[in-house]
Amino acid sequence: MKAMGIDRAFIDRLVETFYGRVLAHPDLGPVFDARLSGRWPEHMEKMKSFWSAVAFRSGAYGGKPVQAHTGVSNLTPDLFPKWLALFAATLDDLAPSPEAKAWFMATAERIARSLTLSLFYNPALDDPAKKTG
Ligand code: HEM
Repeated sequence: MKAMGIDRAFIDRLVETFYGRVLAHPDLGPVFDARLSGRWPEHMEKMKSFWSAVAFRSGAYGGKPVQAHTGVSNLTPDLFPKWLALFAATLDDLAPSPEAKAWFMATAERIARSLTLSLFYNPALDDPAKKTG
C-alpha cells in the first residue's frame, strides 16, 4: 500500500471528495441523502474506517455492508455503474499512482458485484423449470 502511495491521509481525502461528489450527483445524491440526512459525519467516519480496514487489513471496520444497503429506498441496480464511474473519475483526479487507482477500482467493483447479487439476485429467474420460453 505504501509503495502505491496509499495511506490514511489519502483515504480520508478520497472519502471526503468522493461523497462530496456523490451528494452533488443528480441520481446518486438524493438516494444517499434520503437515508443519511443528519448522519453524514458518521457515514464519512465509517467509510474511512472501512477503506482503511480493507487497505491495511486492520480490522478497524466491523460493519455489515449488505445489511446496511438493505432497505435503502430507491436503490436500483443501475445506480451501481454510476457509483463506480464517479469513483473512477474521483480516483483519476486524486490517486497518487495508477496502481492505487487500479487497486481501489478492483476492490470497489468486487464489492459492487457482491452487493448487487445479494440485494437483487433472484434465483427464480435462473431456474430453467420456471422459464416459460
Ligand atoms: C449505487 C450504489 C450505492 C448506494 C446508493 C449506496 C448507499 C449507501 C447508504 C445510503 C449507506 C448508509 C446506510 C446507513 O447507514 O443507513 C451506505 C453504507 C455503506 N456503503 Fe454503500 N452504497 C452504494 C455502493 C457501495 C459500494 C460499491 C460500496 C463498496 C465499496 C459500498 C460500501 C458501503 C459501506 C462499507 C457502508 C457502511 C456500512 C455500515 O454501516 O457498516 N457502498 N451505502
